Amino acid sequence: MSQQDKNTTKKKLTGTALFYSLIAKAKELDAIVLGRGDPDFDTPSNIVEAANRAMKTKDLRSSPVEGLFELRQAISDRVSKINNIDVDPNDGVVVTNGGQEAIMLMVLATTSAGDEMIVPEPNYSTYLDALAFAGGAKVGVPTVMENDFAVDPTLVEQAVSDRSTSVLLVSPNNPTASVIPTDTMETLVDIAAKNDLVVLADEIYDQFIYDGGVHCSPQSLASGKDRTLTLNAFSKAYAMTGWRLGWITGPAHLINKVKLLKASVSGPANVVSQYAGIEALTGPPDALEDMKARYHRRRKVVLDAFDSMGISYGMPQGGQFIFGDVSHLGVDSVELAAKILDEAHVLVYPGGAFAPDSKYYVRVTFLQPEAKLKEGLERMSKVLSKMSK
Ligand SMILES: Cc1ncc(COP(=O)(O)O)c(C=O)c1O
Repeated sequence: MSQQDKNTTKKKLTGTALFYSLIAKAKELDAIVLGRGDPDFDTPSNIVEAANRAMKTKDLRSSPVEGLFELRQAISDRVSKINNIDVDPNDGVVVTNGGQEAIMLMVLATTSAGDEMIVPEPNYSTYLDALAFAGGAKVGVPTVMENDFAVDPTLVEQAVSDRSTSVLLVSPNNPTASVIPTDTMETLVDIAAKNDLVVLADEIYDQFIYDGGVHCSPQSLASGKDRTLTLNAFSKAYAMTGWRLGWITGPAHLINKVKLLKASVSGPANVVSQYAGIEALTGPPDALEDMKARYHRRRKVVLDAFDSMGISYGMPQGGQFIFGDVSHLGVDSVELAAKILDEAHVLVYPGGAFAPDSKYYVRVTFLQPEAKLKEGLERMSKVLSKMSK
């Protein structure tokens, strides 16, 4: 491939492909990573020890496709306690290879070619990749910074057509960090029920809610119970990204489709990880509580830095990142992220990779120890202040 071809290919990268190319470059430069969404903490030692014990003492040869019963029971107990979701571990839970596989399974199991999914934007780009594989079409519903990226039910209702089959509700949202309040969630789920839509709920950040906010699960609502598939995973709350473990809960008629698909896509999730997952959900909560407290402090560090850099943002109500408006710099965020990476060796994610309308936004995660986070933000600030001169 000629250099010119390589440059052209590079320019065209979008969504997940763009993120991966930035991650590769950041690795080459040994950059401070404030882009990628993986927790910097080690997996808590009680979870690692449970995996070690399982390797020595458990039968690791097989598992049901939907996951070990003991883990499905622990998931059912967890979602009952934390999310108010009532689900039967026998036919209402599928254990997955992380959140990524859960996204693909949920979308493929509920979307046929020509179907439309209503997607509040900006949103996590894998949903659009999954939708493209299914031959479905996205009907985007914009959310705006001035309104803290709140999802507007009126716009969702207006987006419904004869071809609509599902609505995606990611709360807390990635990358905007907005949280859907209970009354809005009720209205959204009622709209879904009225139009016979499946609700795809992503609750991977449900442990990270700030400023006294409340997380509401659509599957916990009467009109959402029989039409919602809910995704969650161990990667964020238990610092277990590499263990590849997540889950989907839902009514039996939808879970059966997910299970059938999973049997042919990958079979059951890794059995050692499943035993680690049981410990994560049933063991002491101390590590999670400690991580939550640290994320609260780090969020404040990024908000202060954004204020001093003159970057506006919608108040991040949940998640592990902040989505800021850099339009005053007059540079597309893909170009800006490349500049910050080249000059300051700091990786931030360009908003345009999440949605075309977000090309003047950047997403900064707080998944680095406080000192490193501060250093990354200072370096970024120097690049930005040179640009504003
Ligand atoms: C909203 C959302 N859903 C799902 C995932 C996938 O999670 P996992 O790392 O468990 O594959 C992510 C990852 O960042 C995410 O942000």
